[in-house]
Amino acid sequence: MTRRVPLPGTRPAPARFAQALRRYARRPATPLHTPGHKGRRFLPGLSRWLTEEGLACDLPAMDETGNWLATRGPLAAAQRDFAAECGSAQTWFLANGSSSGVHAMLLASVGPGDAVLLSRHSHLSAFAALVLSGAAPVYLPARWSAAAGPVPPDGDEVARALEADPRIRAVLLTSPSYYGIGRPLAAVARACRRRGVPLLVDEAHGAHLPFLPPAPDLLGSALAAGADLVVQSPHKTLGSLVGTACLHRTRGGLVAPERVQAALALVTSTSPSYLLLASLDLCRRWLATRGRAELARAVARARRLREAIRALEPLRPLGPGAAGLPADVRFDPLRLVVDVSGTGLSGHDAERHLLASANLLDEFADEANVVCVLGPADPPAVLARLLRAFDALRRGARGRGRPPAPPSCWPLPPQALTPRAACSRPSEAVPLAEARGRIVAEPVCQYPPGIPWLVPGERVGRELVERLREARRQPCHFTTADASLRTLRVVRE
Ligand SMILES: Cc1ncc(COP(=O)(O)O)c(C=O)c1O
Repeated sequence: MTRRVPLPGTRPAPARFAQALRRYARRPATPLHTPGHKGRRFLPGLSRWLTEEGLACDLPAMDETGNWLATRGPLAAAQRDFAAECGSAQTWFLANGSSSGVHAMLLASVGPGDAVLLSRHSHLSAFAALVLSGAAPVYLPARWSAAAGPVPPDGDEVARALEADPRIRAVLLTSPSYYGIGRPLAAVARACRRRGVPLLVDEAHGAHLPFLPPAPDLLGSALAAGADLVVQSPHKTLGSLVGTACLHRTRGGLVAPERVQAALALVTSTSPSYLLLASLDLCRRWLATRGRAELARAVARARRLREAIRALEPLRPLGPGAAGLPADVRFDPLRLVVDVSGTGLSGHDAERHLLASANLLDEFADEANVVCVLGPADPPAVLARLLRAFDALRRGARGRGRPPAPPSCWPLPPQALTPRAACSRPSEAVPLAEARGRIVAEPVCQYPPGIPWLVPGERVGRELVERLREARRQPCHFTTADASLRTLRVVRE
């Protein structure tokens, strides 16, 4: 991989697309084209949120700014600048999140009847991509750690799975996980190359990884490890606007750029938000100027915070040497995962404590852990407040009872139909109790973290019904058509 390092005396490219939008917005000509607000403060509520310039830059695709799938113009230039900055061969900007990037990666790589090797703990978008492409899943052995959620596979596991099933045409991995862990991907990439199948990596939570200072415990980016296509959500960790993502193709990758382009044209809007896309251009400009230094400072602060929490017995921040994890697991230093179960409290209790006592909102909690996303936009004072809140938590919990049950992974449901077959057959809504033994026709997925409890095509088991009944009492959000979980959509048999 070649990463662009500015030569001494050379200046990083300006944010050319953002500049082109601004230039267009300042033209004296009166627009008689979309969008309907005409760049004016027209909707009262909206004009409180967006500045005049922001509204004027909310533009559709035009010759002056370039179409996002075109190879010329300021938007194409901005995508090339981003590719150079992160070391990809080609980068496409997306305004519909990594979800659309995952859909496009699979559509570009496989077709109906092909098999895809992936983890059953992949994000919902991977299963949606199976429905869209008509490919069938082949699952890697599912491993779950109480401290760190799903454990990714290593190169040997992937090589064995590829050897066992010649139908596999692509491998899709998530790295880092929602808990910020991963395994070195170079060995996985080599196993895929030996078999001639592309390695597709959902790096939605790792857009910052290529820009972090090297460290022995640092999880490297899939871009440097030899993956063929990589999807990232800079909105999650780098500061571009929510919904922005990048699909990267690496040099010498097995998936032809024309196939990626054709797949993107199928799954993305013809009116992507140019404000969102411009925020990716501004993000790249930040990375090329102050970004790496600010990220390095954020990493140093996060490492100090993690060590300070480690001293607060019995709290256990996730990091190197964590019990039950393979020795080659690597970490995202900006994902703070703290196991609070030693205090007798659950992660959900700790989440409530952080909000009530310190006005801090975490990203996610499970039975044992609280997960926080840290980054360059967090001032040191916030981290100090977080540390004090954790200290108060363990003091207040002294002498409490037994630790709560560790988060667990229940047996994976048997797959009766492919996701596409289950979604295309006639279906009906049945009361939850009657769904037992039936084939589910919709994804049943709690968000966050977006890992489906049931994938379309799987048979609903007794334990799942009980867990869903339990979930009805919790304040969590599910993707089901009936959000109250009283009914489930199942295939009519
Ligand atoms: C692992 C993973 N992949 C993909 C996505 C989808 O990303 P986006 O929300 O940008 O569409 C998410 C979102 O949480 C995710 O956690």
